[in-house]
Amino acid sequence: MTTAGYSEVSRSFSNGSMTNRQGFSSRIGFILAAAGSAVGLGNIWGFPTQVANHGGGAFILVYILVLLLLAIPALYAEMSIGFQQRANPVKAMKASCQRIPLFGLFAGYSNIVGAILMLSFYSIIAGWMFAHSFGSLFTALGWETLAGFVTQSGITRNLLFAALVIMLTALIILGGVQQGIERWSKRLMPLLLLLLVGLIIYILQLPGAYDGLTKFLKPDFAALSDPQLVLAAMGQAFFSLSIGVGGMLVYGSYLKQGENLGKLSLSIAGLDTLIAFLAGMLVIPALFVAQTYGYTIMSNGELVGRSELIFDVLPKLFNNLGTTGTLIGFSFFTLLAIASLTSTIASTEVPVSYLTENHQYSRQFSTLLVTLVVSLICATIVFNFELLFRAVIGLLTHYMLPLMGLVYFIVTGWLRPQPTNAEAGLAGKLLKVHLRFICPALMLLVFYQVAF
Ligand code: ALA
Repeated sequence: MTTAGYSEVSRSFSNGSMTNRQGFSSRIGFILAAAGSAVGLGNIWGFPTQVANHGGGAFILVYILVLLLLAIPALYAEMSIGFQQRANPVKAMKASCQRIPLFGLFAGYSNIVGAILMLSFYSIIAGWMFAHSFGSLFTALGWETLAGFVTQSGITRNLLFAALVIMLTALIILGGVQQGIERWSKRLMPLLLLLLVGLIIYILQLPGAYDGLTKFLKPDFAALSDPQLVLAAMGQAFFSLSIGVGGMLVYGSYLKQGENLGKLSLSIAGLDTLIAFLAGMLVIPALFVAQTYGYTIMSNGELVGRSELIFDVLPKLFNNLGTTGTLIGFSFFTLLAIASLTSTIASTEVPVSYLTENHQYSRQFSTLLVTLVVSLICATIVFNFELLFRAVIGLLTHYMLPLMGLVYFIVTGWLRPQPTNAEAGLAGKLLKVHLRFICPALMLLVFYQVAF
């Protein structure tokens, strides 16, 4: 498929009416946008610490297994629902579940609610990354008071920076699929990779880095006896691939027909895993370098609290490295800020596409409405941080994402009337059997293991 083979606007029929929808202008644009949605704090912050705490290479092996058996099929299932129906989650789910329309509607609206909840807490964390990135800049300029304000946790700081993330995301979304999402994904993703590789090259040359690399890669097979390991790997894989909040479904709906979704799912998951792996080669060695400076990074065989490591230990290490350290600190937090921004874009597009298609609001008005709702929920979380922050994250990552994964398997395996072109031929038939029987059974097994 050449770039010229893509049309900016595709027509789709739904509920008897015809609507004009934008689409990605090229396959690479789609891959970068979808990988951008996937690559986020889960890769750069979550994956390295999960690996270090759950047996190094042993966790990586389990993660790859979970990825192949469950997460990539779930990614395919989610994207294929949008791809087939060429519509936002509510329309697409309803059309895919014609035999049980209420179930379809419930699943579709769950995606919208999930995306808004995801944005509400994710914008706060993404804001911290921007704050620390500014903090390094202010330190370099000698503006210590300002640097102190932005790097210390507080209601005003949290509100200001979450608002910054929500606004930047809205500006990108206002540009539309090609001029907003695709254009910015094409700019931000290469920059992210460049920053990541540059930081790895620098950190791996410092004393102590090799011990960190060993901790990250050496398998401790004793960790496999932990029944929570598979659950941790599954949660990580679903969160990392952004499965369950409808972002991948919407991006799938902007793809030109005729694309091979199976291959595209593998490319996106491959990029996402590569970046998570590279992030592990940066973050864990950096922590072990910090240990050589006398900072505590482990307690009872596990890394100390995640936020302590990122916002306390690493900035102290960067301070110890002089002017270069300030630049490294700035690059590190900018890397995290970029990664989080490419993820908030996809979640925002979910409710925006619903409002434009189901209620015929303009993109501008829809974006404004979503921005207001997300800002309100975000502020509620900031003002009731102790009560709500972890609860919302837990609700979404432990329950909503895996449950929506199960829903996607049921819809693609059992309910939707037509298969996609990826389900043709022998490999396609195997995929269909996998989606129908093996994925739901595996997921139910994991849920059973958690519950009992
Ligand atoms: N997939 C995004 C991340 O990993 C949400 O942070």
